[in-house]
Amino acid sequence: MTLPGRDSGAVITFDGPAAAGKSSVAQRVARLLGMPFVSSGLLYRAATLVAARSGADPRDEAAILAALSSHAITLEPGLHENRVRIGGHDVSAAVHTDTVDANVSFVAAHPRVRDWVSAKLREVPPPFAIDGRDMGAVVFPEARHKFFLTASARERARRRVGERSADLEAVAGAIARRDQLDARQSEPAPDAQHIDTEGLDLDEVVEVVLRHLAERGVVPRRAAAPGDRRENPERGDGSAREGSAREGSVPDGDGVDA
Ligand code: C5P
Repeated sequence: MTLPGRDSGAVITFDGPAAAGKSSVAQRVARLLGMPFVSSGLLYRAATLVAARSGADPRDEAAILAALSSHAITLEPGLHENRVRIGGHDVSAAVHTDTVDANVSFVAAHPRVRDWVSAKLREVPPPFAIDGRDMGAVVFPEARHKFFLTASARERARRRVGERSADLEAVAGAIARRDQLDARQSEPAPDAQHIDTEGLDLDEVVEVVLRHLAERGVVPRRAAAPGDRRENPERGDGSAREGSAREGSVPDGDGVDA
């Protein structure tokens, strides 16, 4: 029996390769539906940072697990961003460095590291929207709404650094390498809705996602343009209170956990 409020069907998953826009789309959709957004990549990044700080080789699974067992890593999902802490210290910025980028795929490839991350994610109370690589296929196979976002490596690099950057080719190359390293853990769920985001901006991708959700009875609480950032009319600054998200406003209609 599924306990009320713990129904993992009430999870919306967004998977796909690096820089496909998963987190921006998941965050925007979550906000429009009034539910928290969860970034699974932050836990892999925090594990990579802990391994580095402990002097563990990113290819040594046992050393990484030993480092993880001696550090308290916590993920705090929210409407606007996620915070990740190691031993109570906020490392949300520290996990976005070139060193972490260069090592995270090796750390994430270890099955027991993946089990450690998956177990932590399954502790988060639904509903929420989550982004990652294997959220729909492995971690939340029961989720009823799964999206898999794709775009060419060049398009993803362009989004990251801008069309005219001299770095475009280098960034596209780095993204393609990360795709290769992440390939094994990036299989789409068989029931995922694939969205080719090539040539689409964030608003347009969000619109496609909302259309799919609406067809299945999941609609935002109020009619809102996908680009509308004013979630909290009291503040009018695009922010919304975490408390209200935690109350888990189930969307009108059948809602995500229908
Ligand atoms: O999403 P983000 O780019 O922050 O993820 C960083 C890395 O963490 C990915 O390149 C991948 O190696 C790993 N990852 C993963 N499975 C996930 C999320 C992230 O293997 N669900």
